[in-house]
Amino acid sequence: DRPLIIAVDGPAAAGKGTLAKALAHHWGLPYLDTGLLYRAVARRMLNAGLDPAGDASYEAGRLEPADLTRTDLRVPEVDRGASLVAAQPAVREALLERQRSFAAATGAVVDGRDIGTVVFPDATVKFFITASPQARALRRHHQLHKDAPLSGGDLAKAVEEITSRDERDSSRDVAPLAQAPDAFCIETDHLSAQEVFAKANAIIVSCL
Ligand code: C5P
Repeated sequence: DRPLIIAVDGPAAAGKGTLAKALAHHWGLPYLDTGLLYRAVARRMLNAGLDPAGDASYEAGRLEPADLTRTDLRVPEVDRGASLVAAQPAVREALLERQRSFAAATGAVVDGRDIGTVVFPDATVKFFITASPQARALRRHHQLHKDAPLSGGDLAKAVEEITSRDERDSSRDVAPLAQAPDAFCIETDHLSAQEVFAKANAIIVSCL
């Protein structure tokens, strides 16, 4: 019996993490947020006074577990820095084995951009989670600022940040953000987290 591996890919703030955590809880599997790996490499670059667009393979090779639990990984400069280090083949290569070994023995729910295409091409079930840039920018705002109101100008800026990150993630040469041909796509604009979970879980059950 192969371990159960559930791949959850998609653009920024589409609801991947929320779904992946709920599925991990439901199936009693560990959850791996692979974005954190790229964020931690970007954080190390910034803390060393280096531009994340420069060669980040040295910092990627030095990642430690404590780098992944820092509280300053979800800030705008790291959003941007992560997608810059993630475009570097040597960085992706350095992080690949770490992601595979995490799930090898127990199975896992893994979220990211290239999980179904590159990291676990043989995953048991693959999802591609999407939503419009507007819906994703609004969700990201509420995650960061709870109930604070959002002006039209702030929304426009958030949409622009999310879109430029998606463009960079989708257009890079190595492991770009892409839907695997055998992934199930769920569009989350008009769905609650519970509804996304229900849809995804029904698909998993039908695949087993
Ligand atoms: O998912 P999250 O927004 O935390 O990811 C941060 C960045 O890390 C993404 O914008 C992307 O550039 C990169 N990433 C990636 N491959 C993954 C996960 C994240 O390239 N599997």
